[in-house]
Amino acid sequence: MPYVHGYAEREHERLRDQAGTLVELLHRDTAYPAGSTVLEAGCGVGAQTVTLARRSPEARVVAIDRSAESLDEARRRIAEAGLGNVEFRQADILALPFEPASFDHLFLCFVLEHLPRPVEALRSLCRLIRPGGSVTVIEGDHGSAYFHPDSAAARAAIECQVALQREAGGNPLIGREVYPLMVEAGLHAVRVSPRMVYVDAGRPDLVDGFIRKTFTAMIEGVRARAVAGGLIEAERFDAGVRALYRTAEPDGVFCYTFFKGVGERP
Ligand SMILES: C[S@@+](CC[C@H](N)C(=O)[O-])C[C@H]1O[C@@H](n2cnc3c(N)ncnc32)[C@H](O)[C@@H]1O
Repeated sequence: MPYVHGYAEREHERLRDQAGTLVELLHRDTAYPAGSTVLEAGCGVGAQTVTLARRSPEARVVAIDRSAESLDEARRRIAEAGLGNVEFRQADILALPFEPASFDHLFLCFVLEHLPRPVEALRSLCRLIRPGGSVTVIEGDHGSAYFHPDSAAARAAIECQVALQREAGGNPLIGREVYPLMVEAGLHAVRVSPRMVYVDAGRPDLVDGFIRKTFTAMIEGVRARAVAGGLIEAERFDAGVRALYRTAEPDGVFCYTFFKGVGERP
């Protein structure tokens, strides 16, 4: 299954910027006890791994991804951060080389949105967690993006991203489904909290880090495929991207909601 965002350097930068900007919002309540083991599935370039390892310095994180290129970058970042509590493995989420119940906790961020059968994937990952261990799932939802000034072209460009991700077998609107999905996967005591990113000119770090470098960069990244696939005219797509950048002007506002679910492995 192709990964809709691709593995280009620009995408690496985007994931790094996204993690840097959103650390507090997404991770203020992420911490694992000393001596515990955490499986991070689909760690990518290590954008969340650095935060996990830093916030839980006495836990051990095993981070897996199927992309060797992303893992190289993730290893580099962990080394640069001087963190010694992470081990990386190249593997497929659907065929992980671990014994059942061999981890205390599971952490997944922006991964289920790319998998054609997320409940099945989550179920099989949960088998690797001991009973009583925690499972954390963080996902976005591209239907949660709204902004001022509003723009039909911007919404059409976002729709291209949604259509392409669906075509690749993913679900770009998965955030709103985190609760039912975790329950269906058999988890107990599931609690989902929406984490809304609200950006106006009074928050210049988010204007740059979220509107420009995260959300709009992601949409820009599908231009070639959207135009080549006949989803949209190039001019309309470009107008949409300009309208998204326009929301980063002093009178602009941008809202987007992530969903963080935490449950217990029965
Ligand atoms: C959007 S990235 C998220 C990376 C990271 N969790 C983050 O929050 O920045 C999704 C990652 O999932 C990985 N991935 C997707 N399907 C996978 C699979 N079946 N097995 C292993 N990794 C997978 C991709 O290689 C990619 O690195």
